[in-house]
Amino acid sequence: MRGNPKFARRKELMKKTDNVIKKGDLYYPGEEFKKKALVSDASVYKKALEDPVKFWEKLAEELVWTKKWDQGFVHKPPHFEWFVGGELNITENALDENLKKRKDKIALIWEPEPTDQKQKTFTFGELYQEVNKFANCLKKLDVKKGDRVGIYLPMIPEAIIAMLGCARIGAVHAVVFSAFSPKALQLRLQDTEAEILITADGYFRRGEIVNLKQNADAALSDENTSQNDREKRGTSVKKVVVVKRAGNEVRMQSGRDLWWDDLVGKESDECQPVPVGSEDLLFILYTSGSTGKPKGCCHVAGGYAVQAKFTAKWIFDFKENDIFWSTADVGWITGHTYSCYGPLLSGTTVVIYEGSPDWPSPERWCQIIEKYGITTFYTAPTAIRMFKKYGTDLVRKYKLATLRLIGSVGEPIDETAWDWYFNEVGKGNCLLLDTWWQTETGGILITSLPGIGPFKPSFAGLPFPGVKVDILGEDGKSLPAGKEGDLVVLPPFSPGLLRNIYKNPKKYLETYWSKFGSKVYLTSDGAYKDENGLVRILGRVDDVIKVAGHRLSTGEMESVIEKHPNIAESAVIGIPDEIKGEVPVAFIVVKNTNKPADDIKTEIINLLRKEIGPFSSLKTVYLVKDLPKTRSGKIMRRVLRKLLGGEELGDLSTLANPECVEEIKKVV
Ligand code: PRX
Repeated sequence: MRGNPKFARRKELMKKTDNVIKKGDLYYPGEEFKKKALVSDASVYKKALEDPVKFWEKLAEELVWTKKWDQGFVHKPPHFEWFVGGELNITENALDENLKKRKDKIALIWEPEPTDQKQKTFTFGELYQEVNKFANCLKKLDVKKGDRVGIYLPMIPEAIIAMLGCARIGAVHAVVFSAFSPKALQLRLQDTEAEILITADGYFRRGEIVNLKQNADAALSDENTSQNDREKRGTSVKKVVVVKRAGNEVRMQSGRDLWWDDLVGKESDECQPVPVGSEDLLFILYTSGSTGKPKGCCHVAGGYAVQAKFTAKWIFDFKENDIFWSTADVGWITGHTYSCYGPLLSGTTVVIYEGSPDWPSPERWCQIIEKYGITTFYTAPTAIRMFKKYGTDLVRKYKLATLRLIGSVGEPIDETAWDWYFNEVGKGNCLLLDTWWQTETGGILITSLPGIGPFKPSFAGLPFPGVKVDILGEDGKSLPAGKEGDLVVLPPFSPGLLRNIYKNPKKYLETYWSKFGSKVYLTSDGAYKDENGLVRILGRVDDVIKVAGHRLSTGEMESVIEKHPNIAESAVIGIPDEIKGEVPVAFIVVKNTNKPADDIKTEIINLLRKEIGPFSSLKTVYLVKDLPKTRSGKIMRRVLRKLLGGEELGDLSTLANPECVEEIKKVV
C-alpha cells in the first residue's frame, strides 16, 4: 500500500476546457471535448446496428482470451449466449494486463468515513498482489471453480479484492448489500448454497460503528430462521472470513471464523488466473421483482466482461489520467460494474468511499471530489436532490474544477434536479450522462455517448451502439415518437444481459420473456422516444419501487407484512417523495387483536427492517377495514395511489367492494 499521492498537485495540472455547447434544447460536446473523445464519430451507431454481433465481437477482440470463441451469438429463445466456446478470466484482463501497462498507476483509492483516518491506495501492481493472495486463501479454503462465495462487506477495498479474488479462481461471487438485514442475507446464502462468507467486524456509517459481524452471525444461526422457513434451517456456510475494519468487539466462532489478515498474510502474491467458459457464471446478484422472493440475476464471464469494459470506457470516455468516483455501494450492480470491473478493465483509477456522503457535513462529497481531483462523478438523483436541498451556497464554495463528466443512474432525474446538477455541480461545463440500465442488464444500455451527444434534460438519450431498444404498445407494435409504452430490448440484446434467474428458469421466462414473446426482453420500465430517437424513461410499470435509488418490491414487502400474526392482508404502494423519489406506505387490514393501532404499526415497521433492511422503512401505515378489490379478488393498488395523490378516482364500478373506498378516505 502506498502513502498519500500528490492529489493536490494533480488539481493544478487539470484545467477546464470547452466541454459543452448548447443548441436549442439539446446539449452537445464542445469542440475541444469532441477532439479528445474516445468515440466521436456518429457513424458508429449506424455501423453497429448493421451487424451488432460483429460490432460486439470486434470489441471482445480487445480483451485477452485464453481460447477464442467459435460463435459470436447463439439464440435459442428465451436463452441466448455470447462468444460461445470462448474462455477467459476477467481478472487477467483487469489486473495482469494493467500490470504490463501501468503497474505503478493507482488503481483504487479508498476514503474512510472518519475524517481522522487515512485513505488507502493501491497501485495496479499492489491490487494484483492483494487479489492473488486472497485467491490463494480461497483455494486453501477449498473453494473451486463454480463454487458460490457470499460477500457481505461494506465499502472497503477488501470488497473489491474479494470479488476479484473469486473471479481469479472461477468462483462465483454473490455480494449482499451490507445494509441488508440478517434475514435478507440468510435468504441469499440459502439460495446460493455458499459455503464461504466474507464479512467484516464493522464499519463506519454516520459516525457510528455498524456491527456487521453480529448481523452475519444472526444470518448464520438457526434461530433467525422464521416459522415460514422451517423446512430451510440455517445456511451451508462452513467458513467465515472476517476483515478487521472498525476494531469493534466481535465473537469469533472457533473452527468457523477466520481473520482475513491471518489468512492472507501467509499467502503468495502469485495465483494463476483460472480460465472460465464465456458462458460460465461470474456472479449472482439478487434484485427485487414484482412479487415474493428476490431473484438471483445470473451474469456470465465473457459477455459481462465485454459490456462492463466498453460501456465504462466509451460512456465515461476514460483517459489515462481520469479519476472516477461512483457513489453506489458494491452491494448493487452499479458498484459491481462501475466501481470494480468496468474501470479496472479500462485501466482507470477508481475511488470508493465508505460512508455517508453528507457526513460529518453536507460538504463531504465536494471535499472528496476536490481532495482526489475527481474527473468523473457518477451518482443517483436521490443524492442530487438531497444536496440541492442542503443549499446551493454550499456547492458554490467549491470549484470542482477537475470534473469533466457527471452521471446519473438509478431513477428518473427530473428537469429541476438535472438543471441543478448540470449548473451547480458541473458548473455548466460538464456533459451530464443520464444512464439507464438495470441489475439485469449488467451494464448501461441507454445514454448518449459524450463525444457525440445529444443530451436533453430528463432524457436518458440514445441506446449504446449495437443495442436495439424499442417502445411497444400493448399489441406488441412499435410506437411512434411521443407515444408511451413498454421499453424492450431486441435481439441480439447485449452481451452482459442476465442469462437466467438462479435456480428459477421459470421465473426468468415469466418475468422477462412472456409479455411480448420469448424473443423480446421486457424491461418493466415505461418510456417514450422523442423525434430524435432519444429515450425518456418514465419509471417502473410493475410493482417495483425505487426508494432513494434502492430497488424494492412492494409484493415482497407485503409478503413480509403478512407474516405478522395480526395482519389479514396488506397493500404497499410507493408515493412521491421530494428527496427519495418514492417512499413506501402500507395499507393493512388487522385481524384477531385488540392491540393498540400504534403498536401494530411499530411492529410492522420493525418487521420490515428486520426482514429486509432499514431502507425498507414505511413512511406511513394506514389501518383499514378492507382493501379495494376487483371481483376476482385482485387488490386495486391504483385506487389507493389515486386516493393518496388526491386524484379523481374515476369509475369504481369494477370494484367488488366500492364502499371501502369511503372508509379509507377517512383514514388517509
Ligand atoms: O426503473 C429503472 C430505474 O432503475 C431500475 C433498475 O434498478 P436496479 O436494478 O436497482 O439498477 C439500478 C442501477 C442500474 C430500472 O428498471 N432506472 C435506472 N436508471 C435509470 C432509471 N430510471 C430512469 N432513468 C435512469 N437513468
